[in-house]
Parts: sequence; C-alpha cells; structure tokens
Amino acid sequence: MLVDTLGRPLQDLRISVTDRCNFRCTYCMPRDIFDHDYEFLPREDLLTFEEIERLTRIFADLGVRKVRLTGGEPLLRRGLETLIGRIAAIDGIDDLTLTTNGSLLARKAAALAAAGLGRVTVSLDSIDDEVFRAMNDADHSVADVLEAIEVAAAAGLAPIKINAVIQRGVNDGGIVAMAERFRHTGHVVRFIEFMDVGTANGWVMSSVVPTSEIVSRIHARWPLEPIDPAYRGEVAHRWRYVDGAGEIGVISSVTAPFCRDCSRLRLSAEGVMYTCLFATGGTDLKEPLRAGADDQALRDIVVSTWEARTDRYSERRTEVSLDLPKVEMSYIGG
Ligand code: GTP
Ligand code: 5AD
Ligand code: SF4
Ligand code: SF4
Repeated sequence: MLVDTLGRPLQDLRISVTDRCNFRCTYCMPRDIFDHDYEFLPREDLLTFEEIERLTRIFADLGVRKVRLTGGEPLLRRGLETLIGRIAAIDGIDDLTLTTNGSLLARKAAALAAAGLGRVTVSLDSIDDEVFRAMNDADHSVADVLEAIEVAAAAGLAPIKINAVIQRGVNDGGIVAMAERFRHTGHVVRFIEFMDVGTANGWVMSSVVPTSEIVSRIHARWPLEPIDPAYRGEVAHRWRYVDGAGEIGVISSVTAPFCRDCSRLRLSAEGVMYTCLFATGGTDLKEPLRAGADDQALRDIVVSTWEARTDRYSERRTEVSLDLPKVEMSYIGG
C-alpha cells in the first residue's frame, strides 16, 4: 500500500474540472479580484476527459477508492456526464460524487445519475434569501438551490449533503433555521468552519464560528448526541437529533484539525497534483502526460510525490508563516 511519511494511505481523489464559477461567494471568489480582468485557465490548458480518465486509472491502481469532482463549479464543464461515465467504469472506484453550488443541478441531475454519479454535495450557506444572495453575490436564490436538491434526490443522487460555510456576523444568525429546514428530510447539513484557504478571502480568526458553538446552539433547541464516523478519516463529525429527525455534521478544520487521517490528493483542472488544500505548490502531471510519458512513468511521479508527503497544514496553522501565496479554493476545488 502506498503511504506518505506519516503513514497515511492515498485513498481519496478530488478532481477539479474547471476553475470557473457562476457564483462570486465573497469568501471564495470575491468580485473585486475575480472580475472581468481575471485570467482563468485557457481551454487548451484544461485536461481533456481522456487525460483525466487515464490519470484516474493510475490513481485507482495506487489505492484511490473515492473520487469527488469539484471546480470552481464542475457543472459548468460541458459534457461532464461523459467524464462521469468514464470514471464510474474504472475498477476500484466505489464512491463517485460531486460538489456543486446547485445552480445547474436541477437541469442536469437525471443525466448525471444515468451516467453513474453516485451522490452529490450541494453548497448552501443560508436559507435566508437576502443573506444567501449577498453571500453568492450573483443573484442566485435559495429557492433554486432547494429545488435542485429535491430534483437530485428524486434522481437518486442521495443521501445528499449540504455544505454551509459559517462566518461570524454574516450567516451565523441562521444556523438554527438552516438546521430546522433540513430536519426530517434525510439530507445532512454540514456546518463548516470558515478556513484560511487561498489569499483572496480576507480570512481572520475572529470570523470563524467554532463548531462547538454551532453544535451548542442547535443542541439548545433540539438535543443532539454524537455518532460514530461513517468511515476512517471522515472530515465531518456527526451528530444525531435525539428526537429522530436526522443528523448533522460539523467540519472543524480550524478548531480541531484532522490532518492525521488525511488521505486526500487533489488534481487541478490543468493537471497539477496537490497533496494539501493549503499547498503553495504542486506537481505537474500534464507536461509529462502530453510529452508522451507512459503509465509507469506517470505512476512513478505519483508514488514519489505521495511517499515524500509531509503536509499537515491545519495542525500547524499557528506556527506556519502566512507569507507564501497559497492556491485559491476555486482553483484547487475545496
Ligand atoms: P463525504 O465523502 O460526503 O464525507 O464528503 P467529504 O467529507 O469529502 O466532504 P466535502 O468534500 O464536501 O468537504 C466538505 C468541506 O470540508 C470542504 O468543502 C472543505 O471545506 C473541507 N475539507 C474537505 N477536505 C479537507 C481537507 O483535506 N482539509 C481541510 N482543511 N478541509 C477539508
Ligand atoms: N472555508 C471553508 N469552506 C470553504 N468553501 C469554499 N471556501 C471555503 C473556505 N474559505 C467550501 C464551499 C463548498 C466547498 C467546495 O468548499 O462552500 O461547499
Ligand atoms: Fe463558486 Fe463554490 Fe467558490 Fe462559491 S464557494 S464561488 S459556488 S466555487
Ligand atoms: Fe489534509 Fe492539508 Fe487539510 Fe491537513 S490541511 S487535512 S493535510 S488537506
């Protein structure tokens, strides 16, 4: 089994298929930076579906069992069903999922499910329309995302997880309302601590709402009890409503980092491999791929990169210098 310097296996691959998004979430792609002059990746630099499939086979051969497609917004990539079909057919991949902002999901859910997508995670930061519009800064409504969630569930892309990034003074007033909206639906809301990814989002520690506070606010209304992780290395801590209304998750990457079990590798849309969400640099696979490298040569690059891996950024957050430019969330895919 391929393991890194801290004994962590490579199990989970996150593939960004585009660095573009039709939202401008203020904590991810603030409009003043991601404006008309911003240079997104040119089309010819994006890995083709054939190239992504070929790399994914190599990763699967090295132990990857779970693949998540991300962006930017992955549903902006034309013909994504074709890629899903190709990845679903790879031996060893037993969990194929996608993280989306939901804006194009209602239209595409049936085709995605038919192609072999297993489930989806939908980002929704508030169920208050005014707050949500201010956060996505692109005029998308809560109603559209809620509809997409129902269409996706009906298409079989369930259980659906809903990601809500909580920022103090922005949407923390809506935590209980968010929980209430998804009780008894079978969907699982995951409250995420706002993280210092990239350099564009103006992160400060005082804007983080610790998940302990999130849990206690919900618990005060509907008592919660902790439940075991669904699998080793699960990012979210799970809590269940004592009254049987379902469960929630909290992702405490700031107050309780989980690097110890981190088995995730990220592949950018232009074919650069990153061993940490907070990486300042990666390992290019596109150049050797396009120069004609055979599978063994590509495999050797992946093996040596993973074997040398020492990343544990979230555990070292307070000691590391914040001077180096980290890659942006919209580029690396969350
Ligand atoms: P499941 O397979 O459904 O359990 O999903 P997941 O836990 O992989 O969740 P998802 O990809 O939706 O991740 C949820 C959020 O957790 C991401 O959007 C990030 O904000 C955060 N996250 C995920 N992986 C990492 C990681 O490796 N490091 C850190 N620091 N945060 C992460
Ligand atoms: N901190 C935490 N989560 C973030 N996401 C984007 N930026 C951040 C951040 N700074 C979340 C999105 C989406 C997922 C891909 O990552 O809301 O749910
Ligand atoms: Fe787009 Fe997701 Fe970033 Fe929002 S958080 S701008 S939806 S990539
Ligand atoms: Fe993994 Fe890096 Fe996140 Fe730690 S900070 S859990 S090493 S991606």
